Amino acid sequence: MREEMFLTDAQADGLATFQNQRVHHGQFQNAIARITNFHRSGTRAYAPGIMTFVGETGAGKSSVVENFCSMANSGDSHSCVLSIIIPQSCTIKNLASRILYALGDPCASMGTRESMERRIAMLADHASVSMLIFDEFQHLTNKGSQARRYDTADWLKTQLEILHRPVLFVGLPEVNDIFMVNPQLETRRRGRIELHPFDPSTKDGAKELLMLFHFLNQALPLPDPSSSVLKSNEVMLRLARSCKGLIGYITKVIYRSVEIALLSNSPTLTEQHLTVALSELKEASDELDTRAARPLQSKRKQTIGRVISRQKKGLQDEPF
Ligand SMILES: Nc1ncnc2c1ncn2[C@@H]1O[C@H](COP(=O)(O)OP(=O)(O)OP(=O)(O)O)[C@@H](O)[C@H]1O
Ligand SMILES: [Mg+2]
Repeated sequence: MREEMFLTDAQADGLATFQNQRVHHGQFQNAIARITNFHRSGTRAYAPGIMTFVGETGAGKSSVVENFCSMANSGDSHSCVLSIIIPQSCTIKNLASRILYALGDPCASMGTRESMERRIAMLADHASVSMLIFDEFQHLTNKGSQARRYDTADWLKTQLEILHRPVLFVGLPEVNDIFMVNPQLETRRRGRIELHPFDPSTKDGAKELLMLFHFLNQALPLPDPSSSVLKSNEVMLRLARSCKGLIGYITKVIYRSVEIALLSNSPTLTEQHLTVALSELKEASDELDTRAARPLQSKRKQTIGRVISRQKKGLQDEPF
């Protein structure tokens, strides 16, 4: 096991700035444009309706939403976009209380459902809310009975009627299930946005990925980015395949490998750093996947064997 060292303050600053960078790749820009247009037309419409924004975990949805909100809520505009993250197993009352909390209600979880609804309408006007975004929306509908799901869908439909504001549902592809529970919501859906993983096997997908690596390399917090592995097309496309083209996994491996490079005072990022980071992360995810299913001892032996053979072979094509 490698002995873990400490980052200096300067290294920690560099790594954090690198991790905070968001690359405006093609799908990212398209999603921002669609959401912006929905917002702009929705604020002028009497019945603006719903838009859905779905993608697999790690596709980059929340990063798009954060970017959109910071643009929409900056500048001279007096109105604001309200973004709410829905917790697991959320009930209608929990949701109403979350909205009230985001609107600044000091007693967000108090009162009957009716009084909460009245306060939502009043505070949304008072705060000039121009759009609502619900991230992790699948948490509203992936648990509970069919009847409870129907109630939730019905409550949302009524809120749309009362609030007259555009609403964006963001989450995993299961978000679409709510439209089957209550077809009245479907008639209020104005559009769907999907964020797909990058596809390294197509010309366009590979081009987008290489652009992503190029921008990440420009922000690399190491002294010699000119010789970094981020510039090696073959190695990086192989990494993208290992990560199923999902930006959340790709960046996770890169961030950890940059940390390893910083800790070893390496002037640049090498394939070896990537290989070690990928092995570590795959090992952790294998443990998570199968800990409950297999006895710990036999699992550990298998994992250690796999990691050693992976490190010998370098970057592999298997996803994690
Ligand atoms: N445009 C981007 N540029 C650079 N890194 C990105 C970008 N988009 C996403 N990432 C990286 O991927 C990580 C995961 O992205 P994000 O949280 O947006 O995914 P998500 O689709 O919301 O996933 P989940 O469904 O699990 O919430 C981010 O923390 C960030 O490190
Ligand atoms: Mg997210």
